[in-house]
Amino acid sequence: MIGKKVTDALNLQMNREFFNARLYLSMATYFESLNMQGAAGWMAAQAQEETGHAMRLYNHLRERGARILLGALEAPPTQWDSPLAAFEAAYEHECKVSRQFDEHMALAQAEKDHATVIFLQWFINEQVEEEASVDEIVQKIKMIGDHKGGLFMLDRMLGERKSG
Ligand SMILES: [Fe+2]
Ligand SMILES: [Fe+2]
Repeated sequence: MIGKKVTDALNLQMNREFFNARLYLSMATYFESLNMQGAAGWMAAQAQEETGHAMRLYNHLRERGARILLGALEAPPTQWDSPLAAFEAAYEHECKVSRQFDEHMALAQAEKDHATVIFLQWFINEQVEEEASVDEIVQKIKMIGDHKGGLFMLDRMLGERKSG
């Protein structure tokens, strides 16, 4: 049996992950508008991963016999000032998500919900990767600066990411 506090926290996070999917999908459409199909594909793949995160939370709640509640979704931003600004926003967002999972972990530990503690470990590790992969792209764009050829190459590189 899963407690109410943990149920509420995981329901909240599931809804946040659905928002995250739409945030990245919105970034994908922004990159489409810049004709940067590689970056758009990268963002679309990221959106799919975020939906996967939401479903992981969904399945954990389901397996634990909790009531799952889908809430209203806030509209994501639709415009960024530059490719750098979009990836910087993604990086900031991932750092925020990492702190959210730290809080969920602290709650699960305080509630002695060890099944949820073990479940959340995957997300804690995943966030380390998420922050690192987005930060790597931010640093590359900074290195490229205003060099159009560099941005073109980076877009091709980002396009190599496999979806899902
Ligand atoms: Fe996520
Ligand atoms: Fe993420």
